Amino acid sequence: MRTLRIGQLGCGIVGSAVLRVLDRNRSDIDERVGAPLEVAKIAVRNLGKERDIPEAHKALLTTDPHEVTSDPSIDIVVEVMGGIEPTRTLLLEAIGNGKHIVTANKELLASLGAELFDAAEGKGVDLYFEAAVAGGIPLIRPMKESLAGDRIRKVMGIVNGTTNFILTRMSEEGCSFAEALGEAERLGYTELDPTADIEGFDPAAKASILASIAFNTRVVAGDVYREGIADITAADIAFAKRLGYAVKLLAIAEEQDGEIAVRVHPAMIPLGHPLASVRENLNAVFVEGENVGELMFYGRGAGGPPTSVSVLGDVTTVARNIMSGGRGPGCTCYRSARIRPIDQMFAQYYILLNVADRPGVLATVASAFGANSVSIASVWQEGFGDQAQLVMITHRAQEKDLQATLHTLRELDAVTKVASVMRVEGGEA
Ligand SMILES: NC(=O)c1ccc[n+]([C@@H]2O[C@H](COP(=O)([O-])OP(=O)(O)OC[C@H]3O[C@@H](n4cnc5c(N)ncnc54)[C@H](OP(=O)(O)O)[C@@H]3O)[C@@H](O)[C@H]2O)c1
Repeated sequence: MRTLRIGQLGCGIVGSAVLRVLDRNRSDIDERVGAPLEVAKIAVRNLGKERDIPEAHKALLTTDPHEVTSDPSIDIVVEVMGGIEPTRTLLLEAIGNGKHIVTANKELLASLGAELFDAAEGKGVDLYFEAAVAGGIPLIRPMKESLAGDRIRKVMGIVNGTTNFILTRMSEEGCSFAEALGEAERLGYTELDPTADIEGFDPAAKASILASIAFNTRVVAGDVYREGIADITAADIAFAKRLGYAVKLLAIAEEQDGEIAVRVHPAMIPLGHPLASVRENLNAVFVEGENVGELMFYGRGAGGPPTSVSVLGDVTTVARNIMSGGRGPGCTCYRSARIRPIDQMFAQYYILLNVADRPGVLATVASAFGANSVSIASVWQEGFGDQAQLVMITHRAQEKDLQATLHTLRELDAVTKVASVMRVEGGEA
């Protein structure tokens, strides 16, 4: 019987877990594939590093990644090394040598996915990447394959565990952003440099991959409108909670008038929405299909063991494809819909205004909304005298109209401050 050989690029958090879980579940995985799998080589940077991997695998370590990409006996290359270069060059080399690829690399796929898919198509090899979005949560294959008969309307998710942990702590303990970030750092939930999480770059990369799959259109990370959570205050969250909302950093991709609107930003969602109850560093993605209705995928979006399950699921699928002489679906971006710029996107908004407490203020404020074609869904007053505030929630409005409204509001004598503005999701369609 043919043995299928695996070469691995990287052996860090994910890579070492892949080796441990494969070792533990090997006999079942071999049965599921119908052929034995064997790890042939593992490329790392530093041979002297302590690694929690099966003893037998330690002899397979090399610092020369070309030993993985060029070894003619290797069938599948598992890329868990991360980064853009030299990873891109190594994967193109492996594909050029006829190897099937399983990767967890969202950064690379979100910027150069098209190049890799074209190369894989040209060589007739598989390129699978379940682990690249939301770690251990099965999402790519369900969206690409199980939902292939439906039209997806919207994908909305919490796809960054670090920021969800921070927002959970701010909401449940009332602590500041800096205190919550400090706790996330102490618990090892953050990268060395937390910017990619806090500023939303990490979820934007994931949003672009999800949007590409959901709408069959190539979306790259640079297409995604992005705002992070650094400006959210505990007071914003407490106020939102009092109004019946949770504040979450959401990655959202939806079709608006035939165009693709993709964005990552903090948003208020009703406390009854399934995403509102996603706590700590967990992830969840809510998918709305025209016929299937609402689906939610929930679980661990990071960590070695959960992510290794996604990697090994891909390895198993690719190995089965090799055994049957078939291939997976490959690139599914067969459309080229326009990516909608942020100022043309539609959303609902929450606006908190500090206002003068005198007759006629509400009418003046309301007319600023009306003059800019933004319709108000609800409005109420908080406090009185110097403390008077107006809370407005709009119907779905276009971003450019909302910005024009804010500009008008800031010019009004009646408005002393636009205290807070946030998008509201999970309400109006
Ligand atoms: N960590 C997660 O929870 C998670 C979840 C989903 C997806 N991912 C993705 O999975 C990938 C790996 O993440 P990770 O957290 O496992 O990273 P990591 O712990 O930093 O591991 C990276 C591994 O790659 C090796 N490496 C880096 N550059 C190399 C080079 N030029 N040549 C040879 N080896 C090299 C490192 O070698 P040394 O060990 O010698 O330093 C290390 O073993 C990334 O694309 C990440 O975005 C991670």
